[in-house]
Amino acid sequence: QARKLFDYNIVLIGFMGAGKSTISDYLSAMFAMDVVEMDQVIAEREEMSISDIFETYGEEYFRTRETELLIEMQARQNVIVSCGGGVAMRERNVEEMKKNGRVVLLKAAPETILNRVKDSDERPLLNGHKNVEYIENLMEARRDKYEAAADIIVHTDNKTVLQICEELIQKL
Ligand code: S3P
Repeated sequence: QARKLFDYNIVLIGFMGAGKSTISDYLSAMFAMDVVEMDQVIAEREEMSISDIFETYGEEYFRTRETELLIEMQARQNVIVSCGGGVAMRERNVEEMKKNGRVVLLKAAPETILNRVKDSDERPLLNGHKNVEYIENLMEARRDKYEAAADIIVHTDNKTVLQICEELIQKL
């Protein structure tokens, strides 16, 4: 059994399409760490897609599932927790994230985000709003909350996945 690299979890946050899942997978491969993809775990447990959860039960219900999962993850170590893009919108979630370990905010320009999300139908908050202006406004509205939650900020525009991971690890 290999020794654990970190005695805490690495929590990745950021706007939809900022690169949380990509960076999580890469870090996981580099360091043989487990990844918990929060959206995926919640969708599996609810036996519904994220879009269906939003449609059926609403956003608050979904945020509460996020809170529960963040609390559950506090019992673990050395895990990469890849959050949904809106996790930091709830004050309680920020508290529970911080108890997990280091919170890393991934940032990208609205144009980059649009490119990454334009073909996705699993972003209920962007349905019918796949344009730069909308993304820019939502990002701006969320900015203070993301930044307040973050221990570390990594910009992802015009960098390779490897460069982003190296920068992230250095800043931990
Ligand atoms: C959300 C982002 C999504 C997902 C849900 C809500 C948000 O995750 O959790 O659609 O409020 O920004 P991704 O960032 O993985 O797309």
